[in-house]
Amino acid sequence: MCSNEKHKLVNLVLPRGIHISENGIPSAYDNYYEKRASEMRGFYQDGNALEEIISKENVVLYRVYEFKNSESSNDLVYGISIVAPLKIGKEYNMTKGHYHEAVDTSEIYFCLNGDGYMVMETETGVTECIRMTKGTLVYVAPYFSHRTVNTGNQEFINLFCYPAHAGHDYKTIEKNGFRKIIFEEKGDPVIVDKRAFSENS
Ligand code: 6PG
Ligand code: NI
Repeated sequence: MCSNEKHKLVNLVLPRGIHISENGIPSAYDNYYEKRASEMRGFYQDGNALEEIISKENVVLYRVYEFKNSESSNDLVYGISIVAPLKIGKEYNMTKGHYHEAVDTSEIYFCLNGDGYMVMETETGVTECIRMTKGTLVYVAPYFSHRTVNTGNQEFINLFCYPAHAGHDYKTIEKNGFRKIIFEEKGDPVIVDKRAFSENS
């Protein structure tokens, strides 16, 4: 017996196939947004360095292509994030970072290109930084906020997927930031505790 009759499928969402090109740009997408340097004020340690970038050319620091059919908990949101290879002062370029509103939801990221880190933490202070290169799959466990940081010299391109009802909480990160930040020292990324950093600078 055909399942349609059994489940009376109304407003059926159709499957889709999308091609992701080498540079990470998908053949189709539902939403697209980009974050320019001016939208990242307050996220970097060296605010002057950011202002210099903004005054020269308010560059796009990262872009996101998203596929979203609904916000139903049975559904998935998936997409591509592309973080540009540059530094703000000595700090590597990164996404804002967020918790999910439904904080007990998880997410996966799969690295398609580049070199970087997934920086994660809980509100209770558990921190985790996972190195990502092409082929790395990261499971962002429930209750962990997450941010991608590009520590390489190519675009850091990741495929992500999470439950469609998850939502985003940016406020907590805007207020507290992340406990771990990543700097370039003698050409290599160094993960430092933000408090230790601000005490020594
Ligand atoms: C999400 C994903 C991912 C993320 C982008 C941009 O929950 O939507 O984690 O799409 O949004 O990597 O990062 P920000 O949302 O922190 O700007
Ligand atoms: Ni997320």
